[in-house]
Amino acid sequence: MARTTEEYRAAATSHLWRHFANPDASAINVMVRGEGCYLYNSDGQRFLDGVSNMFCANLGYSYGDEFAEAAGEQLRTLGYQAIWGSASTVAIELAERIISHAPEGIEHVFFTPSGGESVEAAWKFARQYFQLRGEKRWKALSRRLAYHGTTLGALALMGLDDYRTTFEPVVPGGTRFRNTYRGDRPEGETEEEFTAFLLADLEERILEEDPSTIAMIIVEPLQNHGGCLVPPAGYGEGVRALCDKYGILLVTDEVITGFGRVGAWFASTRYGFEPDMITVAKGLSAANAPMGAVLLSEKLHEEFSKPGVIVNHGNTFGGHPVSCAIALRAFDIMERLDLPGYVASKEGELRAALESLQDIPNVVSVSGAGFFYAIELTRFRPDGTQYAESELGEVYGPSAVAAPLAARGVLCRVMVEGGRPLMFIGLPLVADTSEFEFLRDNLRDVFGQVAEAQGWSRADVAQPVSAG
Ligand SMILES: Cc1ncc(COP(=O)(O)O)c(C=O)c1O
Repeated sequence: MARTTEEYRAAATSHLWRHFANPDASAINVMVRGEGCYLYNSDGQRFLDGVSNMFCANLGYSYGDEFAEAAGEQLRTLGYQAIWGSASTVAIELAERIISHAPEGIEHVFFTPSGGESVEAAWKFARQYFQLRGEKRWKALSRRLAYHGTTLGALALMGLDDYRTTFEPVVPGGTRFRNTYRGDRPEGETEEEFTAFLLADLEERILEEDPSTIAMIIVEPLQNHGGCLVPPAGYGEGVRALCDKYGILLVTDEVITGFGRVGAWFASTRYGFEPDMITVAKGLSAANAPMGAVLLSEKLHEEFSKPGVIVNHGNTFGGHPVSCAIALRAFDIMERLDLPGYVASKEGELRAALESLQDIPNVVSVSGAGFFYAIELTRFRPDGTQYAESELGEVYGPSAVAAPLAARGVLCRVMVEGGRPLMFIGLPLVADTSEFEFLRDNLRDVFGQVAEAQGWSRADVAQPVSAG
């Protein structure tokens, strides 16, 4: 017989260390099953999964039979094969399949077990690439507030200090430049001027670091942390041009954005980045198997495929055949649904639903694309004074926002980053109008409640205000 929720919580407190959480599990949801865009806990309560769990359950939870069939067939045929000296049929087929959707010029795949390890591998490939060319370049530039994983190497690229500082010194060579947050820029600055400003900042950082030591620049085409930051027009092309000017490799981290989240197979294409490498994970198997990859351009392949050279990196579970079989099935489903096309067709509707919340006085703005958004909430009290950062953590803390939302059946994440309270939204890519409306209506209720608690009057809460 299944155990009670309390029994599960007690056992979790005793034995399960959750990630980025205190081991006390006395109040956690214990999830049991999923269906469509919804999760069900051990008390039978249903939740709309507003963040695709970890921006990864892109197909929601209703394709279990198909994935089980693919995994079962592979397990019965060949449960494990490394891709060192040999390779499995499914690893070869999956590499081919990924490349059939990859941006032009990206032709090769190196499999990893996770997103962070993809980032780590990309950095190693960048270092080895320059070593093969007789250059000693080791540094990697990443953007402020960016999250690229939690291994000590990936942590060196971490733009969120709270995740990194405990573990310093991390791997040397990571340094950060400006992200594309625009809220602190002068009013009236054009998009073109903003792009020029960002590129000038990046070039300054490159020169400060000495370009001849920089192996790579890594950016998410649309940066999650810091507020789902969309690049301004010309930015992707501009970063590419700076990389070319100084001989630096460009890596786009598409661990979240890869495989349809922004209405294209890859966000790099939508935003004009033309990377030398792309890191992916999450959506590759639609979260049904732990799996990541580095996708590489011909430029890197040329160096690494020279006689006598080896790709000097590897691990046991990268390209596990069962994960590959599951990911191949994810491609069958994504292609059948034309997932990127579907997201593109629904982007406007979801965006409009979220933007309709901007009449609530504590909602500042909505940023993002496809099915990937952040709602910025105000840092200001009704009298115009600013909350201290510690106060923001309370005003928008779990008991004020996430818990009331969960009580209404919606799971979303709120964090204060760069001094700004942000709600992150990343519905499964199969979500439709009913999910958009359910999300919008519950966000409206909860943001409205928070606004009243902050001291905005009922009239203010009902009145449209300009998004600031
Ligand atoms: C952009 C980005 N890169 C890398 C990672 C790390 O992936 P993983 O958690 O699979 O190591 C994440 C995780 O959320 C991510 O969002």
